[in-house]
Amino acid sequence: MNTATIQTVTNNPANITEQFYADVIKGLHSTPKQLSSKYFYDAVGDKLFQDLMNCDEYYPTNCELEIFTEQTAEICQALMSNGDAFDLIELGAGDAMKSTYLLKYLLEQKADFHYLPIDISDNVINYLNMTLPVTLPGLQVTGLNGDYFDMLKKAASLSKRRKVVLFLGSNVGNMPVSDAEEFCKQLRNHLSSGDMLLVGIDLKKNPKTVLAAYNDKDGITKRFNLNLLDRINRELGADFNVAKFEHYPTYDPETGACKSYLISLDDQQVKIRGKETIGFAKDEYIYMEISQKYNVIQTNQMAAGAGFKPLNIFFDTKKWFIDAIWLAE
Ligand code: AVJ
Repeated sequence: MNTATIQTVTNNPANITEQFYADVIKGLHSTPKQLSSKYFYDAVGDKLFQDLMNCDEYYPTNCELEIFTEQTAEICQALMSNGDAFDLIELGAGDAMKSTYLLKYLLEQKADFHYLPIDISDNVINYLNMTLPVTLPGLQVTGLNGDYFDMLKKAASLSKRRKVVLFLGSNVGNMPVSDAEEFCKQLRNHLSSGDMLLVGIDLKKNPKTVLAAYNDKDGITKRFNLNLLDRINRELGADFNVAKFEHYPTYDPETGACKSYLISLDDQQVKIRGKETIGFAKDEYIYMEISQKYNVIQTNQMAAGAGFKPLNIFFDTKKWFIDAIWLAE
């Protein structure tokens, strides 16, 4: 059989917009104001993130790519385990560029598996469903568009096969440490004993290297952040004057928290859907994103605390990034 199976499971777009609206209103009525970085990824945001991954300063993608290209066989052998059929589920698949190295190798090994990319962006899922069967003939793909845990439940309902979850690109860093711990516990609860997680985690390193990655000289990160205000204008009928907000990235080497903010340059008011008015004081900030950095010991503790046993750790040559395999106990 050399034909690909394609299937998409999509959420109702109207519900997605209402959830976006509710989250934005809640975040902008909070003290301090905040917006969720999960909303960065509309079509424009996806493109800006692609540009970011190609810029000189943003190192995590290249580090993880090096791990995936140089250690493909070792990673896949560990994931294939005893050779039983499995579902390879990717949380936040993006363009699946890194996982394609694994998929290609697994197909070559005639591994018995299905690939289920999950992404919050319907653009991404549509793109994967169209392109993967062409680039990887024979791959069985089921794209899942929606929130991670909803779609993990969906995946569990689709088959009883062993689950191998990919959570790459340091996406786990997009949560404060305590939320990441809670997330790993929840993830463990959606899995069965014997299932696996391959998680990509960005490590603590020279603070200047970290900060530069979130403050690139071409201003892509800045545009990436400001695009969320534009997206709120586009999709929720708001009137943000984007020129009146400034990107402010920070990194604290002690805690490993890399955070970005947008600072209001004036006293100003923003109207959303003509009914909600949000006031900003000059110098008031909106907390936009955290990209948490860890050391290896902390990642092992996080695994154990969530009910996983760390099986393997793969480093890039600079030792800036790891991909760890955790076994659900
Ligand atoms: C896709 C969440 C891993 O936090 O490094 C890149 C997103 N934000 N530059 C990260 C991002 C600013 C990225 N993740």
